[in-house]
Amino acid sequence: MTHPDGRVLFVKGIWTEEVGRFRVSDRTKSYETAELVSLDERSSDRVTPPCPHVDTCGGCPWMMVNEEAQARAKEQRITFLLDKNGIAVTERRPLLRSPDFFGYRNRAQFKTDGKQIGYVSEGTNVLAPIEDCLVLNPPMRKLFQELRHALPQTAWQPTGRFPWSYLDVDDQQTLRDVVPNRRLPFRQGNTAQNEQMKRWIAETLKDVSRNVPLIEAFCGSGNFTQALVSAGFKQILAAEVRGSALEELRAKNMPGVQSLEINMNEKTVWPQLGRQSPQARVLIVDPPREGLEERAGLFESLPQLEKIVYISCEPTTWARDLKDFQKSGWKVAHLTPLDMFPHTPHVEILSLLTR
Ligand SMILES: C[S@@+](CC[C@H](N)C(=O)[O-])C[C@H]1O[C@@H](n2cnc3c(N)ncnc32)[C@H](O)[C@@H]1O
Repeated sequence: MTHPDGRVLFVKGIWTEEVGRFRVSDRTKSYETAELVSLDERSSDRVTPPCPHVDTCGGCPWMMVNEEAQARAKEQRITFLLDKNGIAVTERRPLLRSPDFFGYRNRAQFKTDGKQIGYVSEGTNVLAPIEDCLVLNPPMRKLFQELRHALPQTAWQPTGRFPWSYLDVDDQQTLRDVVPNRRLPFRQGNTAQNEQMKRWIAETLKDVSRNVPLIEAFCGSGNFTQALVSAGFKQILAAEVRGSALEELRAKNMPGVQSLEINMNEKTVWPQLGRQSPQARVLIVDPPREGLEERAGLFESLPQLEKIVYISCEPTTWARDLKDFQKSGWKVAHLTPLDMFPHTPHVEILSLLTR
């Protein structure tokens, strides 16, 4: 929100163009945060959040506004970043909305102290117990109730530096599979949106010869690799840091796929990938929120590169990387934002970059 004197403050629980009274709660060099004291003019986009835990859990900070307003704000966030960073886009398509506005999440990380179960609100260490979670898909909601009814559980009591254990679960598991403090390999959190992403990749690369070598970095357990193989690509070098994810990828026995365990943040990563696949014409990247932290030597190491498919879950790091790519003569030929997580500010970017 903007103070009448022009200062920008971050305030939880308000929406654009609302007017209210606030109390400054924190100041850093670059920004201030404030707490809402009273809301004097409410947005017409406001709705009553159906979740009783919305204020304590903190996982769905946008549940207080309707779907149209959420979609508009996600589009505006992308426009703001493009303008701020001087990034030109040849073709921009509208936000791909989640078919399910509620009941979409196929995985979650619950926190438990062995007596209660819930989430930990961002920026705190406080366990917020919940009785249900409306963004979970039906199998996950059922599994959550089973976990809740399995309490108390001495095996779930905290053992480390936090006052809780975490339970990483997804809709492929049953109660018996759940092990505390064990991370599952990455999985896209919204199954229907994952299918949209895979269709988008196939459509975006439809004119590329199936015989050209591709590099897929941050491939995880081969979610997009499988889509590329199904689309007919015959030579894919799939790179990933987590050995357990690569084990899952290898178990899929995909023809033409070579896997490589590598840390994409190492200084030598691009020369190494260049040596492994010197003729690569297409690069597909789907990094974590930190983006492509190591970019030095990318274009020198892959001189045949014609297209980059950059899928991002954090628009600010995507914009940072794009600013760099533009200096090397690359441009955004196509951009489609995608809403993976309704009721949160998260927005994914599906982009095609060309020289
Ligand atoms: C957003 S996920 C994408 C995974 C995959 N594309 C999918 O759809 O399931 C990012 C992946 O990057 C991997 N990763 C994170 N840091 C990495 C690094 N420094 N080097 C290589 N891979 C990394 C994670 O293990 C994860 O599998």
